[in-house]
Amino acid sequence: MKNLNFSSTFRSLTFYSVIFFLHACGSKTPPTDTSTVPEVNVVIDTKAHSDSKGVGKFTEVKLEAIDPARADLGKAVFATKCTTCHKLTADKFVGPGLAGITSRRTPEWIMNMITNPELMMKSDPVAKKLFEEILTPMANQNIGDEEARNILEYLRQNDNK
Ligand code: HEC
Repeated sequence: MKNLNFSSTFRSLTFYSVIFFLHACGSKTPPTDTSTVPEVNVVIDTKAHSDSKGVGKFTEVKLEAIDPARADLGKAVFATKCTTCHKLTADKFVGPGLAGITSRRTPEWIMNMITNPELMMKSDPVAKKLFEEILTPMANQNIGDEEARNILEYLRQNDNK
């Protein structure tokens, strides 16, 4: 009798394990995070021009003739918060060389990258690819909107040289 009980308990345990296992396999829910861009089988050349505005709060940046006063303000911020990782030439340092950046990327993309690199690396295909190539994350430097706009002006000036 004792033996019989044991084996029936064992049988039901096995039964429930199988059910649990099947349930666990079937209950994979699709990712609900809509901020991530699905994988695409497109080879991304990070040196090439991209029309993408990136991911973030800057969806439309209107450009006019370069404002030298703004560019000067941008230069000062760049010197303290960006030169640790970026050169203004094409040479890679920690991050990519920023020469030509304003023709490779849209103003919106650049400002989104400067103000929220974490989101860009997670959700923008180009920023993601850059990170995969370099394997160092771009640091969030707590750059404000105006500061980011000033840096953009400085980068435009650098590219106009
Ligand atoms: C700790 C190092 C570091 C600092 C500081 C840093 N960056 Fe970066 N940056 C990177 C890296 C690394 C990448 C490449 C993408 C990645 O891995 O996230 C990058 C990417 C970029 C890109 C895109 C480059 C391209 O070719 O598309 C721009 C623009 C940029 N950074 C601007 C800035 C600006 C402006 C600042 C200063 C506010 C700054 N970064 C501060 C490391 C840094």
